[in-house]
Amino acid sequence: MEQDLARLRDAAFADIAAAGAEGDLEAVRLRYLGKKGSLTTLVRGLGQVPAAERPALGALVNAAKVAVEERLAAAAERLAADRLARTLATERIDVTAPGRRPPRGHRHPLRLIEDEVVDIFVAMGFRVAEGPEIEDDYHNFAALNFEPDHPARDTQDTLFLGGGGDDVLLRTHTSPVQIRVMRAEKPPLRVIAPGTVYRRDELDPTHSPMFQQLEGFMVDERVTFADLKGVLSAFLRRLFGPDTGVRFRPSFFPFTEPSAEVDIACARCAAAGTRDPACRVCRGRGWLEILGAGMIHPNVLRAVGHDPERVQGFAFGMGLDRLALLRWGIDDLRLLYEGDLRFLQQFPS
Ligand code: PHE
Repeated sequence: MEQDLARLRDAAFADIAAAGAEGDLEAVRLRYLGKKGSLTTLVRGLGQVPAAERPALGALVNAAKVAVEERLAAAAERLAADRLARTLATERIDVTAPGRRPPRGHRHPLRLIEDEVVDIFVAMGFRVAEGPEIEDDYHNFAALNFEPDHPARDTQDTLFLGGGGDDVLLRTHTSPVQIRVMRAEKPPLRVIAPGTVYRRDELDPTHSPMFQQLEGFMVDERVTFADLKGVLSAFLRRLFGPDTGVRFRPSFFPFTEPSAEVDIACARCAAAGTRDPACRVCRGRGWLEILGAGMIHPNVLRAVGHDPERVQGFAFGMGLDRLALLRWGIDDLRLLYEGDLRFLQQFPS
């Protein structure tokens, strides 16, 4: 029996030494010390041993069990330490590695220029109003004093919506916001209205069927053309620099009288001190058309219920796309509508 004991103990030691993982150790424990384990069975066999030999033999069996248990505990500790070392080696985190930047959005150039223009007018006491992009003939044309057969009312120029009728359309300018605000509110009014407008144009480097305008108007007693010139000159010099040349040219719009186109001097030619006939900004003209403007036509004031003998006003409208192209030297309008990230990522976030 003593020999059996020694053999079993040594076999257990060998199995423990061979265990490669903590799970293997549990199998070894069961094999020797479990309910049906071989050492356990041996202990039960003590009953058959003559009484005189039992205490000594019992002590030996116990010593063997303790020895196996100790080896098991030591092996478990060793394997756990190995596992920890492996984890530390493979899952190491380099806290000095540079961080990964989360991708950041950028503001669209059209929103940047819009914000800039809005801020300048807000500083002069104007407030922002909005109107729908789907308009009707009344707000887009009739109330703005367009003749019934004005070319803008033709399907050649305007995108009409709906079954054959000519009443519902995509607004061709932001001027209908003048009508909406003036119908709803009494002067004094100082309002700007930025927004998207639509015309039946093919997409090319200088045209888009969808583009951005910013409308502005001021209505009160004693508003004059001098106020119009003052406000627009101040605005343009804020946007393009204090020395920017500004000129007003006579023009025509159905909803203003008198009307003007407002130009700024080409900065490139002004800086060069000469007018470059091949200038890619002004194409040799020396001036860039920025705004349409004028004194609100008496018929428009009457259409919205104001007495033109009592109140007057001026109005202006400008293309924000054009301003964005000028501001950043962009030569193709389509870039503003294509959503190409390589282009858009060049603008501040
Ligand atoms: N609505 C005009 C356009 O789209 C611009 C404009 C607005 C002109 C206000 C005069 C006054 O061309």
